[in-house]
Amino acid sequence: MTIQIKPSGCALGAEVIGADLCTPLSEPDFAAIREAFYTHEVLFFRGQELTDEDHIRFSARFGTLRQLKLTNVLHAHHPQIMVISNIKKDGQYIGAYDAGVFWHTDGAYLKSPHAISALRALIVPQVDGRVLGDTKFVSVSKAYDALPAAIKQRLEGLQALHSIMFRLKQTLDSGIKKDYGAAVKADLEAVHPVVRVHPVNERKCLYVTEGYTEKILGLPGDESRDLIKELTAHCIKPEFQYRHNWRQHDLVMWDDCATQHQATFDYPAETPRLMHRTTVVSQAAAA
Ligand code: SIN
Repeated sequence: MTIQIKPSGCALGAEVIGADLCTPLSEPDFAAIREAFYTHEVLFFRGQELTDEDHIRFSARFGTLRQLKLTNVLHAHHPQIMVISNIKKDGQYIGAYDAGVFWHTDGAYLKSPHAISALRALIVPQVDGRVLGDTKFVSVSKAYDALPAAIKQRLEGLQALHSIMFRLKQTLDSGIKKDYGAAVKADLEAVHPVVRVHPVNERKCLYVTEGYTEKILGLPGDESRDLIKELTAHCIKPEFQYRHNWRQHDLVMWDDCATQHQATFDYPAETPRLMHRTTVVSQAAAA
């Protein structure tokens, strides 16, 4: 197999061409993909007609998979897969239908946040032949690098509280709020440095999100709120973005320390969208 890596031309993101993820990858091919992943922070693979088993096998090459505690959104036969969908069965959503409303990084409210997410498009919403429901990504390593030195200095040593309840308070839908709240009782919030050092490549990454960051510890309320607003506005600037326009059978994986993402809810509620996501919690060392 000859793997090619084609950068998106944006601050982050690259397409992997020539990889067939239905079959186990050779060590050299996997090493090339892994290296590209930690360089480009988001990788996408087009035309991968994967089974759930293929999806799980490929993601597990990157590290240990995490089974989420949000039991109401897990795949019935493969609990390592989270279902993201606006489809209803017997009056209930079959998965998380509001995932990605806010800019966020996955699992920030956990003591050991998710490391990598890998999302596969099974059904993409189409209107007049156009696929809607893009996912937008930003590089928070590039966003950190671009900060003025004085702000970098101010952020040194600061810690922030990330909370799932803070995110849920922001959503208006009380039904899903209740379910999530009950499911995650013990894992509601966590404290992380405002600037995280990436566990694999040691890049500095801004770790403050619109979705989950409730406050910066040790700062008065107003100052904390203003700083969160300033940092989140900085992170999502267009120069740090890549926008993924999905095709059916795409697999997109992102680095949860080095990026943030947001889903685009620009398609009618009755137009189905179905995605499967796996989550890597700890990263396997390079072979
Ligand atoms: C997510 O936030 O993990 C989901 C993104 C999407 O569905 O586009």
